[in-house]
Amino acid sequence: MIDKKVRDAMNEQVKHELESFYIYMSMVAYFHSQNLDGMAHWMRCQAHEEMIHAMKFFDHIIDRGGAVKLLDLKQIKTVWKKPLEAWHDAYEHEKFITAKINNLTKISREQNDYTSEPLLSWFLNEQIEEEKNTEKVFRELSMVETSKEGVLMLDRELAARAFPAGSPVNPLAYNAVA
Ligand code: FEO
Repeated sequence: MIDKKVRDAMNEQVKHELESFYIYMSMVAYFHSQNLDGMAHWMRCQAHEEMIHAMKFFDHIIDRGGAVKLLDLKQIKTVWKKPLEAWHDAYEHEKFITAKINNLTKISREQNDYTSEPLLSWFLNEQIEEEKNTEKVFRELSMVETSKEGVLMLDRELAARAFPAGSPVNPLAYNAVA
């Protein structure tokens, strides 16, 4: 049976991961509005990963006899001054999520919740990637943002990111089952 403090913190984390999905889908819409379809594609892939993250905590709570409680999502941004600002926000958001995972790990250890360790270790490692990936695009875009050719090249590079299998936000996947 999952400890109540750990359960509550994990329910909070389900919310944060769903908010991540929501934020990144908002960026998908924004990048399409700017004709940056490669960046929009990259963010769709990212949003898909966030839904997986939410479900990992969701199922962990249930598997250990706890009740999932879906909390209100906060109002998110829908417009950015420029693409670089959106990538800055994405990087800052990933740092925020890392802090949340660290705190969740702290709570779990305080409660002697050894059973959550494999899941939390996975997330601690995952956040290294999440920060690295968003920081890389932010840094590269900041180098080329004044050059249309540079932005176009980066946008095409980001279009190459592979969708995870069976993604609900991949048009190829949902059109196939419609
Ligand atoms: Fe689920 Fe991007 O952290």
